[in-house]
Amino acid sequence: MSKDNFETSAIRTQIEHTQFLENSSPLYLTSGFVFENAEEMRASFTEEKERNIYSRFTNPNTSEFVDKICKLEGAEAGYAFATGMSAVFSTFAALLNAGDHIVSASSVFGSTHTLFTTYLPKWNIETSYFKVNEVDKVEGLIKPNTKILYAETPTNPAVDILDLELLGSIAKKHHLLLVIDNCFATPYLQNPIKFGADLVIHSATKLIDGQGRVLGGVTVGKADLIREIYLFSRNTGPALSPFNAWVLSKSLETLAVRVDKHCENALKVAEFLENHDNVSKVKYPFLKSHPQYEIAKKQMKLGGNIVAFEIKGGIAAGRKFLNAIKMCSLSANLGDTRTIVTHPASTTHSKLSEADRLEVGITDGLVRVSVGLEYVEDIIADLKQALQ
Ligand SMILES: Cc1ncc(COP(=O)(O)O)c(C=O)c1O
Repeated sequence: MSKDNFETSAIRTQIEHTQFLENSSPLYLTSGFVFENAEEMRASFTEEKERNIYSRFTNPNTSEFVDKICKLEGAEAGYAFATGMSAVFSTFAALLNAGDHIVSASSVFGSTHTLFTTYLPKWNIETSYFKVNEVDKVEGLIKPNTKILYAETPTNPAVDILDLELLGSIAKKHHLLLVIDNCFATPYLQNPIKFGADLVIHSATKLIDGQGRVLGGVTVGKADLIREIYLFSRNTGPALSPFNAWVLSKSLETLAVRVDKHCENALKVAEFLENHDNVSKVKYPFLKSHPQYEIAKKQMKLGGNIVAFEIKGGIAAGRKFLNAIKMCSLSANLGDTRTIVTHPASTTHSKLSEADRLEVGITDGLVRVSVGLEYVEDIIADLKQALQ
């Protein structure tokens, strides 16, 4: 048995058995742990002894989940959070000082964007943005106080691809920390650390859970950076609950088979949409027509489960399409067994001006499909009847 193989690591990375020799890891639903005596308690608090103290710090279930993600991402260490956003916030809050500067791709998840524009400026931390197709401008944005280079790939919701190898080389040349949100790809499809990322963040709420049940997040990467993130989090309290960690660790056992099937379905949906008369454009990383197809092939195993397309007729057509959907869900989540359809211009991004939407790749007719695991012909039939 080689634990280096993805599926085997995802299943066989396990906390120690109890005296019952259970096959599947039990749930340690406990807020704290007991000590045999005062000396053991003292040594545990000073970290002379490595053991569980309190579930805000560590817990066997969160440790198992983190260990798996570390193996699957090729990372030295990690810390698990209650949500993807607490992973994003705590990573920045732990590593940045007042007056530091971030260079980020402009297409990032909405709440991450709000963090950059509304909250980090409270501590005098500013962010400069580059467009996904203008990575050549990144070096021009770097200042003496720049500390972090940040990006998501594929991006949400426009499914653009950024060249991780290129970002890795820029970060190395300028001594910046490269932090990548790998949520859309999962560790199964893409490992940013191989391309030079120092830290990788996931919203485990998406494909890692994959069944739309729990929220979770994780940051993994270099041990010295994770140590800072751990100390910040141990004191500020964004920890993942043991129950959610147990669910997510179980979910990882089936990640490879689920994501394989998601990608197979998504490619078929993308090919169907590409040939539809009411669709003017389709973006899916593994379609040859994707502007960054070659980069996607270089850094991703398969294309993921998100397909973006442009419906002819703009906002009105997008709303009409959503209203005509019968089986797929209209929901804000993604990466679920259920196919989910969203129209950002009339929903999540409706408060932005058209110019601001276009800046992050959201055109009026853009529809995002998170392709699920239903029988693919049923997914296609629903989209087809809604497009007519
Ligand atoms: C790319 C990306 N990062 C982070 C998040 C935030 O994750 P969570 O909802 O678990 O806080 C999301 C949520 O959709 C996302 O799509």
